[in-house]
This record gives sequence, C-alpha cells and structure tokens, in this order.
Amino acid sequence: MTESEAVSEHARLEGVLRGHDTRYFEDDAPEISDGEYDALKQRYLAIEARFPALVTAASLSRRVGAAPSAKFGKVRHRVAMLSLDNAFDESDVDDFLARIRRFLDMPADLPLNMTAEPKIDGLSCSLRYEKGRLVVAATRGDGAEGENVTANVATIATVPAMLAGNYPDVIEVRGEIYMRHADFAALNQQQGEKGDKIFANPRNAAAGSLRQLDPAITAARPLSFFAYSWGDHGSLPGDTQFDVVQAFASWGFAINPLMRRCASRDEMLDVYRAIERDRARLGYDIDGVVYKVDDLALQRQLGFVSRSPRWAIAHKFSAEKAATILRAIDIQVGRTGALTPVAKLEPVTVGGVVVANATLHNEDEIKRKDVRIGDTVVIQRAGDVIPQIVSVDLARRPADSVPFAFPETCPCPLKTAIVREAVGSGGSGAIKRCSGELACPFQRVEHLKHFCSRRAFDIEGFGDKLIERFFADGRVTTPAEIFTLSARDAASVSPLREEEGLGDLSVRNLFAAIEARREIAFERFLYALGIRHVGETTAKVVARHFGSFAAFRAAAMAEHAVASLSQIDGIGPIVAEAISAFFHQPANILMVDDLLRVVDVAEAQKPASVDGAPLAGQVIVFTGELVAFSRDEARAKAERLGAKVTDSVSKKTTLVVAGPGAGSKLKKAQDLGIAILDEAGWLNVVKDHAGLSG
Ligand code: IVH
Repeated sequence: MTESEAVSEHARLEGVLRGHDTRYFEDDAPEISDGEYDALKQRYLAIEARFPALVTAASLSRRVGAAPSAKFGKVRHRVAMLSLDNAFDESDVDDFLARIRRFLDMPADLPLNMTAEPKIDGLSCSLRYEKGRLVVAATRGDGAEGENVTANVATIATVPAMLAGNYPDVIEVRGEIYMRHADFAALNQQQGEKGDKIFANPRNAAAGSLRQLDPAITAARPLSFFAYSWGDHGSLPGDTQFDVVQAFASWGFAINPLMRRCASRDEMLDVYRAIERDRARLGYDIDGVVYKVDDLALQRQLGFVSRSPRWAIAHKFSAEKAATILRAIDIQVGRTGALTPVAKLEPVTVGGVVVANATLHNEDEIKRKDVRIGDTVVIQRAGDVIPQIVSVDLARRPADSVPFAFPETCPCPLKTAIVREAVGSGGSGAIKRCSGELACPFQRVEHLKHFCSRRAFDIEGFGDKLIERFFADGRVTTPAEIFTLSARDAASVSPLREEEGLGDLSVRNLFAAIEARREIAFERFLYALGIRHVGETTAKVVARHFGSFAAFRAAAMAEHAVASLSQIDGIGPIVAEAISAFFHQPANILMVDDLLRVVDVAEAQKPASVDGAPLAGQVIVFTGELVAFSRDEARAKAERLGAKVTDSVSKKTTLVVAGPGAGSKLKKAQDLGIAILDEAGWLNVVKDHAGLSG
C-alpha cells in the first residue's frame, strides 16, 4: 500500500467505522457484527501502524466509545473509563503476557497471577458511592464523560442503593449492565403485544432500557448488573483484583461466579475453554473472557496505553457460524459510486437470528474467495445483523457453477460504465465505481441520504425510505429541492398529506425540520456536500481556516487550488486534489449554487482566542509512551493551556515531550534543536499552571 492509498483507505475506514459507532452507541441499533466491526477496526489500526503520520487526535484509535448523547446530563469520570484491547487467539494471549513480563522486567519462571472472568455483553456503568450511598451512576460515554443515568440505575434490583459491611468513604464500583436471555425474551414478547419496538439482541435491549428518559420505564425493564472493576476510590478492600471483587460481593453486589484466579497461561486458557463450552447455558450473552493482572501494585506499574490498560485483555470467542446457500449476488451503488456486492442467502438462523444477506466487500473479495452463485457458504455473525462469508464448501459446489462475473456497467437505468480504482497495491482491494457521478440516479439518492444524515444537514424525519420515495416520484431530486419542497407542495394538485402513510402532522413536522436547517454551519454544509475524502474532521479544518464558504470556494476553484489547499495544516494532497476536482465539475458547481440560493451558510467560529494563555504560541508534539497521562489527556491539557498540539515534528514545533520508546520524532527534534522534555519535565510545566489546567 502506498502512502496515498493508505490516506484514502484510512479516511474511508474512518467514515465507515464512525457510522457504525453511531448506530451502535447512539441508535442502539448496530448493522454489522462485532466480528466484522473488529475486522474493519483491525485494518484501520494496521494502516495507522504502518503510516503513523495518519494518527491524529481525531483518530478512532484515540477514542473509546461515543460521545455522550445530549439528552442526559453529563458526568465527568474522575478516573477515565477505558476500553480493553482484544486477543483473538492464543498467540495474542501469549503476546499479551510477554508484553507484561517485558514491561515489568519479569523473568518467565517467576509466577504471574492473573484473573479470568466472562466478558459480559452489555454496557459498562460506573456507580459512585459516598458514605455507602449511591450518589451518581454514569455510562461510559467517550470514556472521559458519560451520561448521568442515576435515576434509571437506581431501579436495577442488583444495584444496591446502600452498601453493606465494611466499605470505604468513597468508591466507584464499575461493572456491566446486561439483560438475561429469559428477561429479554419476555420483554420482546410484551413489546410485540403492545406493538412496540422489538430489540435485536439483549445488549440493545439493555442499552435502550437504560437510556429511557422516564425512569419508570427502566424500572419495568428487567436489567441486571455484575460488578468487576472500580474507578475513583478511598482505601481498597484488598491488594488483588480477585480480593477487591470478592469484597464487592460482601457489600451487596452481584459478581460473576465464573471468575477464577490463574497461576499460569495454561490455567487461563483452561478457564477460557470451560467458559466457552458453557456459554450457551449461562442465560446471558458473553463474548469472551477477560484476563487481568491480579496484583494491584503490578497493575499500577503497568498503567495504560492510550485507550486500554496494559494489565488486561479481552480474549474474544470466535463468532457463531452456519452454512447456507448463496442464491444471488446483488450490486449496491454507494454515494461515491462504489459498487458493493451483497450476498443474497437462503435464510438461515445463526445464534437465534435469521440471516438473509451478507457483505462481500468488493470484487476482489469475491475473486479471492471464489464465491459462486449456488455455493454452500459458511457465514458468521456475532450477535447482530449483517454477517460475512467466511468460507466456501467446495465439496458441495454444483458441477455447472461458473465464477462470478462482476458487471461491466452500473446496475442503474443509465448503465453507466464502471471504472476500477486501485486502493491497495498489487491490485488488491481495488474498488469498482460507477463513473456516472451525479448523473447516476443511484448515486444521487445515496448523496441525498448523506446530505440529510445526522452529521450533515440532520433533517429529522427525512429518513432513507422517504428520501427514496420522494426521489422516485420526482419530488426531490437535488439537495436544493429539499428546501423548495414545502412551497411546491402547497401549490401542488396532489399535496403530500394525501399520500398514503404520511399523516398531516408528519408532513408539518418534516417541513418544520427542513425550515430549521435553512441556516447551517459551514463545516456541516461542507461535509454534507459529500466531497470525497472530506469527512467531518477535514470539514472543520477547512471551516476554521477559511471562515466563510465564499472564501473557501474561491480558493477551491482557483487555478493552483491543489497546491494552495495542501499548504493548510491538516489537509494533505489527496484531500486537496479531491476538493479541487469537485469544484472543477460544472454539475457540482450548479448543485452548490442552487443550494446557496435556498440556504445560508453561517461563517465559521474562529478558534477561541488563546492570547495570554500560559502556553499560547507553543507547538507541542507528544511521542513515546506516557505513563501518568493518556495521549488524549496530555493533548487536552496542553490545548487548555493554549498550546497547539501536532503529530509530526517540524520547524514550527517548539517543544517535544518524549516518553520511553520515542524514535524518529525525538531524533528529528534533536536534529532541529527543538526543546525536549521527558514526562516528568512536562508534569512540572503542567503543575506550574495547575489552576488553569483543570
Ligand atoms: S474490565 C480498565 N471486565 O468490556 C478495564 N470489562 O471492551 C475495565 N466488559 O468497557 C474493564 N465484561 O464494558 C472488564 N469482566 C469484565 C467485562 C468488561 C464486559 C466490557 C466493559 C468494557 C468493555 C471493553
């Protein structure tokens, strides 16, 4: 993979992953399996590992979960709620243990106790007790800040309102809120009878139940809680993970009965296999086994790497599988024309869910696996909706089967030519695109969906189905037409309210929602245009740089646009090229001009003035391992003090904070004669401004 291919694939994956994050964390309605998500994330991380310049503060690798939703109050976690690194096989577990020993300088023959316990498939929650009384319950949120769900959590029977026995003055008990299978089935039965939403799986049901604004609804939902870790705390009731969790039980919490202390790797894997064997009989969903270093003093020494502790890992179970027949391969056209093959399967039940579609990613994936129509295929899912094909059963292949021929033209009515675009080197990962751009009706519909989506124009009530319908009947075929819809409708012989399935109220609400978006922030507007490689982060960079859309547009249409746009901090050559190409297409200019006649693009806020802040004017790079802070924390602190934090060392850099393991960035800083501090030195700088640093 070349660097430019990496940039585009990284951006693509980032968009895809963010979309899935929203559906998982905010909508409680995931569309792909955990396994598929993990695979996408692994690829994303692998690209970052090979091209570290792609790692920015906005990288998904720096984030845990999703930002808290706005409907609940927010709670800042005094101790960050982090995530767990994953191990997918025994060699990952071996690497994990070796890493621990290396870090602690601990020879292989010295015993290292670990705990092993089920990884509960629910949502984590932090419960703060002061003087034994539950005072705040918060979801994980983005790890730094979660939602205040105290009133709802207080209704959960297995969460004590008051602790029993010997507890410290202050303790945040953390664990997992989940729903038992029997409770899940009963809830869905009731929901069905009332004509209410049916939940896809127990985890979504638990999340949906916890995030009710009315605690009475949560109280009526059967949620359970297992305590397994802690945050802010006074004196702890033990020196080991195992003993502290046992103490939780004495205070009145449910703890998982399968938790074990292990003295060796083999014991850990034995526990893993035993738990996996009993998995179906537990009565609740688990998706792996979590191993933790037992000795808390060692845990403290090991600390964290950006988003997860070095002393713990989740050893995932392999996903559930089933065999079925591939009936057809449909080609879906995406917003940018990318053609995605979708496998149409003979419906089959996997882990209790009926599956009829599977993703096939792209043409090369089909070739690589040599998947053919009529084949018996093994599919895999892990508690969710769109599964993937893991293998083809060649022994059962029909004698007359032929390799799948990818179409030469777009399946749209225009039958536009298809172009093949290399993403990976050596022809791997190439994407086929419809060359029609906005002439292709399929792309136009997808473009409209993107335009109205939550992170773009966010037009409430104008969902994918309605957009498809309005597009098909010609009501809305361009973004600008969204904003003329109500005026045209008022004059129309067949006004919308007469249409089947659209009540008076929903039509009025839709028009109001559209009206509410007539003024839009620059960065949203730009993101909504759907220019390739221009995601939310880039849109923000552009908006801040140019302030007004008119100024940006002039720059993008200028003769040397690519060169000048590439000068902007945060915009690389590929993005600059894509922006310039977009603004050199007459059809796009027309679309934008039409739009500007009906919406106002607000000027972008200039970044808050940091003049007079203690570190104003400083350009700082963090490199190597940090112990006391995560990268995110260090960065946030520096920014609060007025500094700018960047990822690569250049002549503009004024300070490099280098921890152990720093490599090329440290060397470059030395070569350029830039000031260098170790973490202790940086801590001193921060301490000097303690009052300000928050
Ligand atoms: S320990 C600092 N133990 O898994 C590490 N997490 O993928 C604290 N989870 O956010 C987490 N069961 O929601 C831990 N027995 C268990 C768990 C567990 C489920 C969840 C938790 C966490 C996520 C990370």
